[in-house]
Amino acid sequence: MLKKNVLKVVMLFAILAMVLSACGNAAKPAATQAAVAPTEAAAAKPFGQASCAPNCGYKDLVLCFPQLGAESDWRTADTASFKDEAAKDGFTLVFSDAQQKQENQISAVRACIQQGVSVIALPPVVEDGWDAVLTEAFNAGIPVIIVDRSVSADPSLYVSHIGSDMELEGKRAAEEFNKKFPDGAKILELSGTTGSGAAVGRAKGFREALNANIEIIDSQTGNFTRAEAVPVMQAFLQKYKPGVDFQGIFIHNDDMGLGAIEALKAAGVNPGDLFIVSVDGTRGGFQAMVDGWFQADVECNPLLAPQVVEMALKIMNGQPVDKNVLTDETVYYPENAAELLPTRKY
Ligand code: AHR
Repeated sequence: MLKKNVLKVVMLFAILAMVLSACGNAAKPAATQAAVAPTEAAAAKPFGQASCAPNCGYKDLVLCFPQLGAESDWRTADTASFKDEAAKDGFTLVFSDAQQKQENQISAVRACIQQGVSVIALPPVVEDGWDAVLTEAFNAGIPVIIVDRSVSADPSLYVSHIGSDMELEGKRAAEEFNKKFPDGAKILELSGTTGSGAAVGRAKGFREALNANIEIIDSQTGNFTRAEAVPVMQAFLQKYKPGVDFQGIFIHNDDMGLGAIEALKAAGVNPGDLFIVSVDGTRGGFQAMVDGWFQADVECNPLLAPQVVEMALKIMNGQPVDKNVLTDETVYYPENAAELLPTRKY
């Protein structure tokens, strides 16, 4: 009798378990299960992948390039690199010139978001102040590649950065001074645009690598332009006697270097009597080395468009890309400047 009752209880539990299990499945109808799949698929879709993926080509690409300005020969070459690439490949380039004003660049990015471009390639004039507009691009599903200079915004707001290692450029410049002045020296610095990734990085790298016995007695900005460098150099010459108070100048770009040379010559100073190291490696910089005014020119390559366009297509096609792509660069010297000058592309 007891055995029979135990069997009944066991069977009751078994039936209850089957009913509960059936109810569980009923709570997940086929339609609900099917609805989960696309959501998961959408979440797995790489950010920025376009509807033409995996076959997106140049004809599908609308590339927004809100250029920061036209302050230097470097910048002119950088702009030409993007325009030439668009003409060669046949993608649509949405170009604007912000005249070195961040507010103009932000407006240009917003216009590109409104237009629904495929990718934004942003060369930021300064490092700070991009969070809001990058968030807007992110929320609109438009991938941003930071080009040339860096931003301080959270890296999750942009897909990648392609450009130079500005700190390394500063370090390379410092090594030239260390080699030239093993017993120490006093030098000046003509810096780039205040708050720009290029000026901040070069100043940092320079100071990190400069020997302790070399003193930077003054540092002023020439905003990366030849015109603005002239009065800065003139003001330096009012305060400091060349060869006595300072022996060298670290100049953050070739255009400012040429402005400084102009001011030195006008003041009756032979620039070749000082140790001048510049950055960029433009034709103007090479000519200054041929003429004996620059003693070294640290390369900063502006021809970035081919890499940017290749990456833009990868993003559109849903392919992975590197977060930081640094340009391979070197240092140029007067010894072979004349030979290399005709081969320079910018
Ligand atoms: O960001 C790159 C710098 O910007 C270049 O050194 C300079 O020439 C330009 O204006």
